[in-house]
Amino acid sequence: MSIADTVATTARSIIPMELQIRGAHLYDKTRRIVTRTDGQVMFTETPIPPVDDVDLADIDLSNPFLYRQGLWKSYFERVRNEAPVHFQPNSPFGPFWSVTRHADIIAVDKNHKVFSAEPFIIIGKPPRFMDIAMFIAMDPPRHDSQRAAVQGVVAPKNLREMEDLIRSRVQEVLDDLPVNQPFDWVRTVSVELTARMLATLLDFPYEQRHKLVEWSDLATSMEQTNGGPSDNDEVFGAMVDAAKGLSALWHDKAARKAAGEEPGFDLISLLQANDDTKDLIDRPLEFLGNLTLLIVGGNDTTRNSMSGGVLALNEFPDQFEKLKANPDLVPGMVSEIIRWQTPLAYMRRIAKEDTILNGQFIRKGDKVVMWYASGNRDERVFDRPDDFIIDRKNARNHIAFGFGVHRCMGNRLAEMQLRILWEELLTRFENIEVVGKPEYVQSNFVRGISKMMVTLTPKQ
Ligand code: HEM
Repeated sequence: MSIADTVATTARSIIPMELQIRGAHLYDKTRRIVTRTDGQVMFTETPIPPVDDVDLADIDLSNPFLYRQGLWKSYFERVRNEAPVHFQPNSPFGPFWSVTRHADIIAVDKNHKVFSAEPFIIIGKPPRFMDIAMFIAMDPPRHDSQRAAVQGVVAPKNLREMEDLIRSRVQEVLDDLPVNQPFDWVRTVSVELTARMLATLLDFPYEQRHKLVEWSDLATSMEQTNGGPSDNDEVFGAMVDAAKGLSALWHDKAARKAAGEEPGFDLISLLQANDDTKDLIDRPLEFLGNLTLLIVGGNDTTRNSMSGGVLALNEFPDQFEKLKANPDLVPGMVSEIIRWQTPLAYMRRIAKEDTILNGQFIRKGDKVVMWYASGNRDERVFDRPDDFIIDRKNARNHIAFGFGVHRCMGNRLAEMQLRILWEELLTRFENIEVVGKPEYVQSNFVRGISKMMVTLTPKQ
């Protein structure tokens, strides 16, 4: 390590986290003023033409309005059939390859030696210093040791401990819902339950749980990373707040432990009990990165599966009837919900060497985007892929959780949360009717529903 690196590392370990982020924000702001890009909006929504009116070579799957405008299915279908490994040279995020078939996505995701997750897993590039190290964007062996440090929080034993608590929190929310009158399912149920789950994972002050959602929403909606609506100033503000809140939580837990309190099964207690991570707080950016990854990883994904399930059952009412007649189908349906919604559209890789994928020559250094949203609708694997079929035989072959070393760490927790939600809903309500058109988020990464009005009919 050079002297400059040693000085930088030492400085990072003694300057409080939020001051480092404030400094980074100042740097970013100054750079944007100097380059006259401050306040510029990269994306304004305009109607996207039907896919058949566009030349194959001009198709840009990174358009952040493709999902919102409902055109994603036809765009992906054409690319899957006509150019399954497709190159877009001129996107606002730079040139990138799209991998759109199920088998090719698995081949890339499994091959971390050739396709690196470093330095980022989104199409764009976060502002400097916002690129906090997270193990989702690290290759082995660094990835493996960092993942091992936090994996315990979602280990089967811990999940069994959490199940009752999660169920009682679901019950509380459902028991308070208005019946026979429209309300927003996203805000009242999906966001609320996700906030409660995240607060449980972290043992975060329960009354402040919405902060977790707020920070995470901002972190995943940056315009320059995935075409979202948030600008850098808002995101830096949230990160300062997150750094303060999460380090206060760490210090509070450490003090309670020192006073003899029995440690819980939450993430911070696990980190403090592990030899490799008990001083993580002294490595502020690594600390923030690990915690942010769990919050971000669990937020949009679980929330949008909760909303997506309701929407799917409304679009396929025969399946809703089948479910009501046989609630034992809930566990299988959970996989189908996750396939059908695919809350994260993709993960990105960089080719570490020249390689050939499904006949296409990919050069070392090229960006390669694995479109899970397309792989999960691949007609080569799923029969009638756009249909929602609650007892679909191969629903578990979906790739919404990824594949290979980065396969989602929270998959069992997410499935448990969705299973509990549907078990509890079916005991209370005869019908959940979506009224009006749902609203969708602006992003090429998160396949999110921002508002969905529903009316509940209680069971007699
Ligand atoms: C990784 C999806 C829920 C934490 C991932 C990846 C995807 C994903 C696509 C990357 C896989 C790859 O690169 O191969 C989902 C979906 C969820 C969900 C669809 C819900 C339906 C959760 C929850 C948590 C979580 C609840 C919180 C505990 C993580 C973490 C990683 C990850 C920590 C990084 C794993 C690694 O790099 O080794 N998830 N996720 N996820 N997810 Fe999830």
